[in-house]
Amino acid sequence: MPATEWNITVDIDEQEDTTMAYASLRTPAGHEVTGVGQAQRNPHDPSVPAIGDELAVARALRNLAERLLHTTEKDISGATGEPAHLHREPCLLTDRHSREEAGRMADSTPENWRRVDDYLAATLLDDDTALTMARSDSDAADLPAIEVTPLAGKLLHLLARMTGARNVLEVGTLGGYSTIWLARGIPRDGRVVTLELEQKHADVARRNLERARVSDKVEIVVGRAADSLPRIAERGGEPFDLVFIDADKESNTIYLDWAIRLGHPGTVIVVDNVGRAGEVADPGTDDAMVIGSRRALELLGSDPRVDATALQTVGAKGWDGVAIAIVV
Ligand SMILES: C[S@@+](CC[C@H](N)C(=O)[O-])C[C@H]1O[C@@H](n2cnc3c(N)ncnc32)[C@H](O)[C@@H]1O
Repeated sequence: MPATEWNITVDIDEQEDTTMAYASLRTPAGHEVTGVGQAQRNPHDPSVPAIGDELAVARALRNLAERLLHTTEKDISGATGEPAHLHREPCLLTDRHSREEAGRMADSTPENWRRVDDYLAATLLDDDTALTMARSDSDAADLPAIEVTPLAGKLLHLLARMTGARNVLEVGTLGGYSTIWLARGIPRDGRVVTLELEQKHADVARRNLERARVSDKVEIVVGRAADSLPRIAERGGEPFDLVFIDADKESNTIYLDWAIRLGHPGTVIVVDNVGRAGEVADPGTDDAMVIGSRRALELLGSDPRVDATALQTVGAKGWDGVAIAIVV
């Protein structure tokens, strides 16, 4: 098992007579825990630098961070008798350290993209047990961790509300994480139709949707989306107001064509993962998923039925992008 990485900085503030220590650790799974502590210089002999104190602070921080690292949601549930969501985030830093931190944040690195995502999520999103458990149960069922980030989920939710969507189509359900966000953005009598290839993913999603109390608004259609979409067209019903495309990228143009046909002027279409770590701009790529994203963008740029743009994104999921279109 790879070792946990430690990073402890000790900093003496000459003017304030204090010793600050910052400790961060990165777990083998890539989580980061950060702590900050402070000690006065030795009050009995102010002329002696408080080397002992610095080390004591650093050790205390290390212990604190280690305790945080090993505390599990089960420990908390055991103690409180209630379901727990353990939210790990950096603790508040002193102004001085914040400034140093801000300096370091100028580097555009995947680690800092993730930190900013953590900060944005902690600042803008509420803790939500059903969403947290949808992710952890999907993990426990060995589903791939390829759902949208919480911030992107909230974007989908807001788009549903901003567009006043009643009917939403999603291509690619996985464990239902984005589906929950979408379903919560539509009225009580609205519907989300979500298409998923894998029965196992659909089963996990169904449980997650039930726990989130949105299953009465959601229909999961199992099978190849390219087969399901013509059947949805055949059965008629109200057009879709919002479409989220997030499945096999190779079929993106098929999904886009159906999204347009099943929509109406004003329908908003969101296509995920159109940046693909910059590879989308490589015309010589032989990666089928990148080619799928390129073809989707080309369709969006040339098809007179839609008007579109796309934005690159960086964040917890790396460097990617999202396209957004309106049916005209
Ligand atoms: C990126 S995941 C969807 C994540 C989900 N939208 C979320 O953010 O929570 C893609 C899903 O599409 C499904 N999928 C792949 N190929 C498909 C196909 N041909 N038809 C329908 N679903 C497909 C995969 O099984 C997977 O569950």
